Amino acid sequence: MEYSRRKLKEEKVFKDPVHRYIHVRDLVIWDLIGTKEFQRLRRVRQLGTTYLTFHGAEHSRFNHSLGVYEIVRRIVDDVFRERSQWNKEDRLLSLCAALLHDVGHGPFSHSFEKVFHVDHEEFTKQIILGDTEVNEVLSKVDPDFPKQVAEVIGKTHDNKLVVSLISSQIDADRMDYLQRDAYFTGVSYGHFDMERILRVMRPREDQVVFKQSGMHAVEDYIMSRYQMYWQVYFHPVTRSAEVLLSKILHRAKELGAQGYSFTYKPLHFESIFKGQFTLQDYLKLDESVMLFYFQVWQEEKDPILSDLCRRFVNRNLFKYVEFDPAKEYRKHSELEALFKKADIDPEYYLVFDSSSDLPYDFYRPGEEEERLPIYLMTNQDELRELSRESSIVDAISGKRRTDHKLYFPADFLKDGSTKRNIKRQIRSLLDI
Ligand code: NI
Repeated sequence: MEYSRRKLKEEKVFKDPVHRYIHVRDLVIWDLIGTKEFQRLRRVRQLGTTYLTFHGAEHSRFNHSLGVYEIVRRIVDDVFRERSQWNKEDRLLSLCAALLHDVGHGPFSHSFEKVFHVDHEEFTKQIILGDTEVNEVLSKVDPDFPKQVAEVIGKTHDNKLVVSLISSQIDADRMDYLQRDAYFTGVSYGHFDMERILRVMRPREDQVVFKQSGMHAVEDYIMSRYQMYWQVYFHPVTRSAEVLLSKILHRAKELGAQGYSFTYKPLHFESIFKGQFTLQDYLKLDESVMLFYFQVWQEEKDPILSDLCRRFVNRNLFKYVEFDPAKEYRKHSELEALFKKADIDPEYYLVFDSSSDLPYDFYRPGEEEERLPIYLMTNQDELRELSRESSIVDAISGKRRTDHKLYFPADFLKDGSTKRNIKRQIRSLLDI
C-alpha cells in the first residue's frame, strides 16, 4: 500500500492535559514525531522566559505541536469529512503542516532571533526541504510533498482553505496555544469553548467560516486571546527576563567579535557569532545548551557577562518604569549620560522595550499585514464579517495597544560608597 495511506496496526495515543488524548493512526505522522528534528522541540519551551513569571510555564513546543495536530485532525476527520467543499486528498497535507508548523523554533526564539538576525520561519522551511529526517519522511509520500507542506506553513500555498486551518485569526495554532498556555500558567483567562467552535466550523473554497449560531463562542475566543496577550505574553516581568537574555547574547557576541578569550569557550555559538552558521549548527542549539553556557559564564572574567548570567540564573531581574518615548526622549539621553558617569554601561543596563498587539482586525487591503477576517455564515449561506455582527468584537477591533517600559538594575542604583550623588539623580529621574 502507498506510504501516504498506511495506518499503524494499533492507534497510538498521547495523554495530553489540554485535549485529554492525541490520536495517531497515520504512519507518516508517527514517523515524523520520531524524527530527531521534531524530538528536539521537547528541549525548547513554548513560552521562553515566561517560566520566570509563571512557574508552571515549563511546557515545550513539542506539546504544542502535537496539540495543533490534534485540533486539525479533529477538524478534518470529524467536522469536514463528509462535506462537499472539503477535498479528502488534502487531509495528510493539513496534518503534516499542523504538526510541523513550529519545527524551526530555536531556543528562547524571541531574543535569539533579534540578536542574531535569524528567522524561525526560514529554519522551518530549511528543516522541511533540507537534508533532514523530516524531509526523508515527507519525501516518501511524494517527492513534491515537502514543498507542499512548506508552502502551507509559509502561507504561499494555493490551497487557502488548508492555509487558514493553520494560520488565520482563528486557527488551530492559536486555539491550542491559548488553552495550553492558560493551563500551564494557571491563569483563568485563555479558556473558551473550543468544542463549540469546532462544531460550527465549515469549509469554504478559500477559508474556514463559522455558522452564525456559534458567534458567542468565537467572541469568547477573541476576548480570551486579548486577555492572554496582556496578562501573560506581554507580562512586564517576562519581558524583563527577555531583556536580560538578549543582553547576555549581545554581550557574548560582542566579546566574541573583540577576540576576548572565554574561560568557557562558546563552541556552540562560534559560527553564529560569525553569522555563517548552518542548519546543523542551529539544530544543536537548544535551551539546555543555552542554559549550560549561562550557568558557566557566571564565572567569566568579563564583569558584564558574568553579572548578567548570574542575574538570569538566580532570577535577579531588572526593574522597570513606564516610559513614553515620544514625550520623554530627552529624559532617556539624560539617563544615559548619568549611567555612564556612574560607571554603569547603559548599553546593557538601561533598556527600552515595547510590546504591541492588535487583537482582531477586519480586512484592510494594503496594510502591513493583511489579515483575513473571520466570517460568520447565516442560515441562508451569506457571509458576514464578525465585527459587524458582534459589538464586543467591534469594540476592540482594529485598535492597536502599545506599552513601553524602561528596564534597569535597581540594585545598582542604591546608595553605595561611590557616586552617591549621581545615583540619587538617576533615582529621582526614574522616580523610584
Ligand atoms: Ni504554534
